[in-house]
Amino acid sequence: MRAMEEKICAEGTVISKDILKVGNFLNQQIDTVFLAEIADEIARLFENENITKIMTIESSGIAIAAAAGMKMVIPVIFAKKNKSSNVDGATYQVTIHSFTHGNDYQAVVSRDYLKPEDKVLLIDDFLASGNALEGLVQLVEMAGATLAGAAVAIEKKFQGGGDELRARGIRIESLACIESMDEDGIVFTTVNNGV
Ligand code: G4P
Repeated sequence: MRAMEEKICAEGTVISKDILKVGNFLNQQIDTVFLAEIADEIARLFENENITKIMTIESSGIAIAAAAGMKMVIPVIFAKKNKSSNVDGATYQVTIHSFTHGNDYQAVVSRDYLKPEDKVLLIDDFLASGNALEGLVQLVEMAGATLAGAAVAIEKKFQGGGDELRARGIRIESLACIESMDEDGIVFTTVNNGV
């Protein structure tokens, strides 16, 4: 998505060769007009898939998922990090390791919201080593639901997660895919979904 690449170049900041800051439009302040463009693109990419539910994980994926859900007119579930008192009853749970933060956490979703008859689109803001998406894939499998694929706003291809998931036949669509980045700039690439 050319607009995402242009937005990153105009408003993103490369903090290190691994971390891109996009707090100006996606991670803290949200550019709502641009968010609607993101939602349009995700809806276009998955328009023929008969998706019944979008799933993300708190917190930064929620805005993108909600915008896409509104556009696609389907509900959005977000997995909670670590079981909180407002997730009642039976749940599906996975442990996810965050390389960025160096910790493990639980992703929890109520069985009431994820059903075997669902066809699920996963959405997140960043795809790095892929652990968060891998955890969401496992939650879909635990529920016996069907996975349509995943859409991410920004993939950092050099961290390998996207390619690992694609190698397993999972459709991963990234709106911008970064080959490399440093203080001199960002190199984007295209991805071959191969599915
Ligand atoms: P992975 O899921 O692909 O394995 O990545 P990782 O665990 O390393 O990412 C952990 C967190 O860091 C995620 O957010 C992810 O969105 C965020 N993240 C990863 N790379 C970048 C980056 O280059 N820039 C920014 N701004 N964030 C990045 P989280 O900690 O789960 O928190 P939340 O923001 O969703 O609440």
